[in-house]
Amino acid sequence: MESSDIRDELTDILVTEKEIQDKLRELAARIDEDYAGKDVLLVGVLKGAVMVMADLARSLCGHVQMDWMAVSSYGAGTKSSGVVQIRKDLDSDLTNRHVLIVEDIIDSGLTLSWLLENFESRGAASIEVCALLRKPDAAKVQIDCKYVGFDIPNEFVVGYGLDFAERYRNLRDVAVLAPHVYS
Ligand code: PRP
Repeated sequence: MESSDIRDELTDILVTEKEIQDKLRELAARIDEDYAGKDVLLVGVLKGAVMVMADLARSLCGHVQMDWMAVSSYGAGTKSSGVVQIRKDLDSDLTNRHVLIVEDIIDSGLTLSWLLENFESRGAASIEVCALLRKPDAAKVQIDCKYVGFDIPNEFVVGYGLDFAERYRNLRDVAVLAPHVYS
C-alpha cells in the first residue's frame, strides 16, 4: 500500500520507503562489521517487527539465524503497564548466543526493558537492540539501543509494520495517522 492510496487517512509522511531502505542498509553494514566472525541470532518482536526483520536481514552480508517472540502488555488495564505476557516464546536456547533484538519502534520503552531483563536471565553472551523508530518524548524508561533508525515525534504513526486496529501494517512508508481515523 502506498501513502497516495490512502492520502486522506494520513496527515504527514514521516519516513519514506526509500529512506527506510537506505537506513536499513546503513545499519546492516554496521551490524555486519560489529558481528564479524560471530554467530548472530536476530529476534523479531511480533507483529510490528516483521517488515524491519525481513528487510534488515536481507541487507546483511553475513549469516544470521532468526527467531520470533510475541508478547503483550497486561495489568493495570493499559498497554504501557510494563507488565508483559509471553504469547509466543523463542524456539532457541539463548545460552551463549549473541542476540540482536529487532523492533519496529521504541515508544515508552517498557516492552524492551522487560525483554532485555528476560533475555539476560537466559544466559545470552550479548544482547543488543536494533529499532527502526524511536520516540524520545514518549520514553518512560531509557533503553540502551545500539542501532536506531530514526527518532520521531510523539505522534500516532502507522505503516511499515505499525498498525492501528491491525490495519496499515502493509503501508510502505511510516506516516502520521489522521485524527479522524481514530477519534
Ligand atoms: C509495539 C511495538 C513494540 C512496542 C513498543 O508493539 O512493536 O513492540 O509496541 O512500545 P513500548 O516501547 O511502549 O513498549 P504492540 O504491542 O503494538 O504489538 P504489535 O507489534 O503486534 O503491533
